[in-house]
Amino acid sequence: MIPRRPLVAGNWKMNGLKASLAELAAIRDAVAAGHAGDAEIVVCPPATLIAAAAELCAGSRIAIGGQWCHAQSSGAHTGDISAAMLKDAGAIFVIVGHSERRIEHAETDGLVRGQAEAALGAGLTAIVCIGETAAERREGRTLAVLERQVGGSVPTAAGPGSIVIAYEPVWAIGTGLTPTPADVADAHAFIRRHLDALMPGEAGAVRILYGGSVKPANAAELLAAADVDGALVGGASLTCKDFMGIAGVYRSADASRGDRSP
Ligand code: 13P
Repeated sequence: MIPRRPLVAGNWKMNGLKASLAELAAIRDAVAAGHAGDAEIVVCPPATLIAAAAELCAGSRIAIGGQWCHAQSSGAHTGDISAAMLKDAGAIFVIVGHSERRIEHAETDGLVRGQAEAALGAGLTAIVCIGETAAERREGRTLAVLERQVGGSVPTAAGPGSIVIAYEPVWAIGTGLTPTPADVADAHAFIRRHLDALMPGEAGAVRILYGGSVKPANAAELLAAADVDGALVGGASLTCKDFMGIAGVYRSADASRGDRSP
């Protein structure tokens, strides 16, 4: 199996004022103190805080990400933001295809793929979100939706170094509901099989995150599921205490691995 470094990303959504940077500084210091083990840690604050967040975390183990980018590199698009602007502000990652964007802004797979391509073009790593709604799950269409979203949203030029997939069942976001670890493992294995068609031989190295009501109380069992390479965390990423309660799963994992010398 190709080793995949765990990744825990926080999506602050439309939350956070300058005062929230104190929480980010606490996260930075906790990660520096080893609280997240070897896991890669990303925080995606609102666009207004990206430059300050990147400055605050410069030289640390925290990477900063955006929450969205336009498919075009510049132009007459009032209120929008390009991948190059995110990169210029200090972002390394950008989330695209989040269900809140797909639903509230009617973003299609094709549009999301364009945004992901723009991200890759600007040198950002794209975190592409996919996931079924409650109705799609009820109707037994989960796997068909995931297949369509993987095929439609992931750029053909993507590889393990430029793309991360986040499986976020829409019905699990902000609800306190989660799939069982077995369901998550099945979905992730299915996603990986379909990624293989896009990047033959490389899908085994792509990180697939689970997102949707990940909390300190359920992180250990969700993150231990097969094919789960980390988490995309919403509400629980807003405080250092909760975010580290999740990322801390990897500290324990490192500790239990024992002697890590070569
Ligand atoms: P919650 O963790 O608040 O359910 O949000 C998940 C999410 O949408 C992350 O992108």
